[in-house]
Amino acid sequence: RYTSNLTRSTSRSPPTAAFAFDIDGVLTQGSYVLPEARRILRYLDGENEWNKKFPFILMTNGGGKPEEERCRELSERLQSKIDLSMFVQSHTVLSSPVLPYLSRYRDRAVMVLGGVGDTCRKIAEGYGYQNVVIPADVLAWNPDLWPFYKLRDEEKAYVRRDFDFSTTPIEAVFVFHDPRNWALDVQITLDILRYGSKGRPAFTRSNDTPHSHVHADPLDAVELVFCNPDLIWRGAYFRPRLGQGAFREAFQGVYKALEPKQYPYKQLGKPTRETYHHAESLLLERAQEIRRFSAAEMHNISKRNIYMIGDNPESDIAGANAAGWQSVLVHTGVYSPSDGVPTHKPTFQARDVEEAVHNVLSTA
Ligand code: G3P
Ligand code: MG
Repeated sequence: RYTSNLTRSTSRSPPTAAFAFDIDGVLTQGSYVLPEARRILRYLDGENEWNKKFPFILMTNGGGKPEEERCRELSERLQSKIDLSMFVQSHTVLSSPVLPYLSRYRDRAVMVLGGVGDTCRKIAEGYGYQNVVIPADVLAWNPDLWPFYKLRDEEKAYVRRDFDFSTTPIEAVFVFHDPRNWALDVQITLDILRYGSKGRPAFTRSNDTPHSHVHADPLDAVELVFCNPDLIWRGAYFRPRLGQGAFREAFQGVYKALEPKQYPYKQLGKPTRETYHHAESLLLERAQEIRRFSAAEMHNISKRNIYMIGDNPESDIAGANAAGWQSVLVHTGVYSPSDGVPTHKPTFQARDVEEAVHNVLSTA
């Protein structure tokens, strides 16, 4: 383990390095906070030989809670102040004015999947989406839609009763977080995508065959957006668990069994360009905020000074490499050296997040 470097005087000026930390499998394993995570964030917060702060953000494919709530929780658990300006989770980009979704669907009916209860509805409404429904609303409207599940009393308390599913088209389906009832959510999403369109309500009896209307005008097709591609992720259990990417594969598997091909969809989250672009803008703002870099210094900060520290080659390493950042693969999450050569080549590997940061700063 690294002893504190505070005693070590150094003639070197502080290296130019900014960090993006993945959360699950790097800083935490489920509810367990890795002790090296707390140590290294304290170090980057200024407890280092330069007495300088280093810019960093947290970047996760997790989600399901409002950003404000997650930042409060993470600040408490990591014992380091995590501001909204330092935090990107899977669905955060759906609040970004840079992407077309908020302007396109602000006042249109959209279906939001995933998470616990109606929390993701509230998150979407907090982003500015004004007409949000969730699968429980449809089941409350017509329980025959999925006969194998009966709404619990606490679900009946939060469902929307003001939405007429027989007359209002649902124009997009956003999978914010991991669905808790895959069967119900697959069934409802299938109905919307096969029988509905932007101009047509899905839950009305009609003599239309599935998709007959969409062939007429593909732009009329309901938009399907997933926010997290992770097939697996590292929680508290010692083996990786299924993530939202597994739900996507399950949905598309059923869809393909009924239709000739999978339904076209947009993928957001790590490793996609949209998520890394959003994260990079936050990180550079953070760098400027804490270091007061001059314009010349800011100009010198290149993508090669940004280090993604992650545990999943598919999301963390692939995304950082594609974004032109440096990438460090740690062994405390999804990837293990016993897996052999990682599917995406990191700049280097490290035992854990503490070793990763010290290796970066000793070479940056
Ligand atoms: O649902 C969370 C999981 O997909 C991975 O999260 O923090 O490792 O990107 P993270
Ligand atoms: Mg991870």
